[in-house]
Amino acid sequence: MFVCLGNICRSPLAEGAFRAEAARIGLQVRVASAGIGPWHVGEPPDPRSQAVAARHGVDISGQRGRQVKPADFLTFDHIVALDWRNLTELKQIRPNPSTALLSMLLDHAPGRAGDAVADPYYKPDEAFEITWSDVVAGTRGLAAKLKGEG
Ligand code: 4NP
Repeated sequence: MFVCLGNICRSPLAEGAFRAEAARIGLQVRVASAGIGPWHVGEPPDPRSQAVAARHGVDISGQRGRQVKPADFLTFDHIVALDWRNLTELKQIRPNPSTALLSMLLDHAPGRAGDAVADPYYKPDEAFEITWSDVVAGTRGLAAKLKGEG
């Protein structure tokens, strides 16, 4: 499960990119995304995220926003934050016990450990291309790791 602040810009792209990469390499996995906050529950991804994904051949239009909940920490093996603030807030709502491993998306991209995927919400459209390349780097690395674990 990929988690950003609103589940409307970044984590829907991570979900879409990961789903596409898993299909490409034959990895069978359950994928979801969620937001820390409730503001966009039930909404489709931001039109700018839908557009950048579509430009790269990935359809995310069917996704709907949801908010992360404590049960997710027992359902998903990995909960992957897009930035540091998301990671800090995930640690605050993590129940005990919790089985999910927490990480940052770019921890899974070679040479990018500790980097955040910047929030493009208030930025010009071009920022969404940077978000896309960041989520592709992270989701490729994570998919390859999970494939290797069999
Ligand atoms: P996201 O971007 O976390 O990448 O989905 C945001 C979308 C909406 C808000 C913040 C960030 N918001 O405050 O509504």
